[in-house]
Order: sequence, then structure tokens, then C-alpha cells
Amino acid sequence: MNALSLDTVVLAENKQELVILDQTLLPGEIRYLHLSRTEDIREAIYSLRVRGAPAIGVAAAYGIYLAVAGLEETDMDRFCAVFREKKAYLNSARPTAVNLSWALNRMERVLDAERDTLSVEEMKRRLCQEADAIRAEDIAISRSIGEYGFSLLRHGDGILTHCNAGTLATAKYGTALAPIYIALEHGWDDLRVFCDETRPLLQGARLSAFEMQTAGVDTTLICDNMASITMKRGKINIVFVGCDRVAANGDFANKIGTSGVAILARYYGIPFYVCAPSSTIDLSIPSGEHIVIEERPAEEVTHMWYAKPMAPEGVKVDNPAFDVTDHSLITGIITEKGIAYPPFDRAFARLGIV
Ligand code: MRU
Repeated sequence: MNALSLDTVVLAENKQELVILDQTLLPGEIRYLHLSRTEDIREAIYSLRVRGAPAIGVAAAYGIYLAVAGLEETDMDRFCAVFREKKAYLNSARPTAVNLSWALNRMERVLDAERDTLSVEEMKRRLCQEADAIRAEDIAISRSIGEYGFSLLRHGDGILTHCNAGTLATAKYGTALAPIYIALEHGWDDLRVFCDETRPLLQGARLSAFEMQTAGVDTTLICDNMASITMKRGKINIVFVGCDRVAANGDFANKIGTSGVAILARYYGIPFYVCAPSSTIDLSIPSGEHIVIEERPAEEVTHMWYAKPMAPEGVKVDNPAFDVTDHSLITGIITEKGIAYPPFDRAFARLGIV
């Protein structure tokens, strides 16, 4: 079994259910959930059953389609009112990944642009098409990021990644792991991938290491606090990470711990690349200070992975799920349109990211 063959998030053939791979169970169990209720889709996003910025966007697009697909309403005004109410509800699932609101806003633009020319039934079909398009585009975008990232690799490279920005985080291929999938297609068998385990939810251990190992890549799992010695020992040639939101100046949010990896990479003189679909670039915010960092329950730190508590009862816990890396620490941002090098605001404009 190769994780690349697993669908992360798809619409069922009957077009009445969202089928998601429950990532909270990986790597131990491969179980698909069939969800149709908006509450269950929001819960799946909140609980990280479907996770990773692009996959969240795809799930939200199908989620809003399914939220209105079963309505018996024929009046367009009332249909639109329900759409907006459900959209706000889905959008509240997680704050940091911009792809959630990006996908929902894109679906709403279809509603606004075509509500005067379509019947309610036609609108439902149109919304389904748009969600399908978001998913299909995500596959093409991830592949393109993979090609650009691959162009930076040399035979034998050691690649460090943090969290999971692989096929499981997108509709297919991933962003930070896509260059490795492309390298495999080219017959490269000498890359070495190091996965930070990524506490507290272990996306690196449970998901990235699983993806890379099942793809047949030389994979080494390290605890988050081992990145420094691994770099110092000369095992890392390049860092690839994903992101949840990039500001206009290039500051970006990604899984908690990413900024520490960037600081280490700068210290050891290792190139540090961010892999970002243009949908993750939020030009409406000038810098990372404007990114809302999701705070998650203390139990993820104190209880999550053992039946017994892993910390003294009642201890104060901080659990920010993301951090912001300063743009000055980034070598380049790999998008589907090309690689942006500093200064990033000008590079984005040159790549047509507006
Ligand atoms: O909390 P998660 O697992 O959704 O966090 C995911 C990440 O931080 C990824 O690196 C990011 O969303 C990019 S996925 C291509």
C-alpha cells in the first residue's frame, strides 16, 4: 500500500456524502467516513479528521455544497440566506488556514454571480461543479509545486520536513512532500527524508513518516528537539515545509515549531523553502502579525496519546497550534506559478499572484 493511492477527501458518487479518510486513526487504521450533515463535516475539520490547509479547503467547498444540496427551497433569496448561515458555521471550524475561508468565499462568489440566471436546482449543480473544480485544481497545483520543488533537489539530498504537507494534506501529492513524489516518478531512489514528529498531534510521525515510508523513500523519524543535531551532523541539505497562511511580506503561519526549524536552518546555513499554493497567500494582510493563531485544547498536550495522563493534573498548558515564521528566514516560497524569492511582495506580483 502506498499512501499516495489513498483519497483524502472526495464526494461520493451519489453526490450526497463527503468521503474523508479519518486521519486521526492513521497510521494504525485506514477508515473512511461518509459525512452528509454540516455539523459532522465541521466536526471532522475541527478534530483534524481531515486536515492540512488545501484539504480543509476542499472539504469546506463540498461541505457548503452538501449543506444546501438537500434543501427543498425553491426561492433563491431564502436559499442564499441558508447558504450564508452554513458558510459562517463551517468557516468557524478553524481560524489559521486561509484555504477554509478562501474556498467558502469562492463558492459564495458563484452564488452571487449566478443567482439571477439560475434556478435553485441549477444552482445546486453549479455549486457541485465548483467544488469539483477546486479539488481538481488542487491536484494540478500540488503537482506543479512538486515540479518546481524537484528542480531544487540534488541526488542524495537529505530533506527535513515538519508536520504533514503531503498527499494527506491535499487532494493529492501534497505541497512540501510533492517534490519527493515527483523525484520518485523520475526514478530517484537516493533521497533521504527526515520527519519531525511534530508534537502535540504527531502529524510528522503519524502522517509524513507513513507517507514517505509507504512510498519507499529512505525515511527517518526524529523528535522535534532533534532537528538541531540532525542539521549539525550534516544530514540535512534542504528544508521543505507547508504553510497555512502567507502574508503579503512573506511571513507565514505553519504548524507550531516551524519557526524554530527556520531559525535552526538559518544558523546552519541550510536552504529553507515554504511550499504554498497561491490560495494560501493572503495579500489582504501585510505581515504575520495579522494571522490568527488557533489555540487548541490542553488535553492534546496532556492526554492525547496515552490512556494515562502525560503531565500532572491541573498543570497550566499553552497549546498554540501554529506559529509565524519571519520572512527574513525564508530562502524561497514555492508556488504553482514559480518560486518566489525575496522581496516577496514584488515576487508575488511578478508571478501574477494578486
Ligand atoms: O493542524 P494541521 O494538521 O491541519 O496543520 C497542517 C499544517 O500545518 C500543514 O503544514 C499546512 O496546512 C500545509 S498542508 C499542505
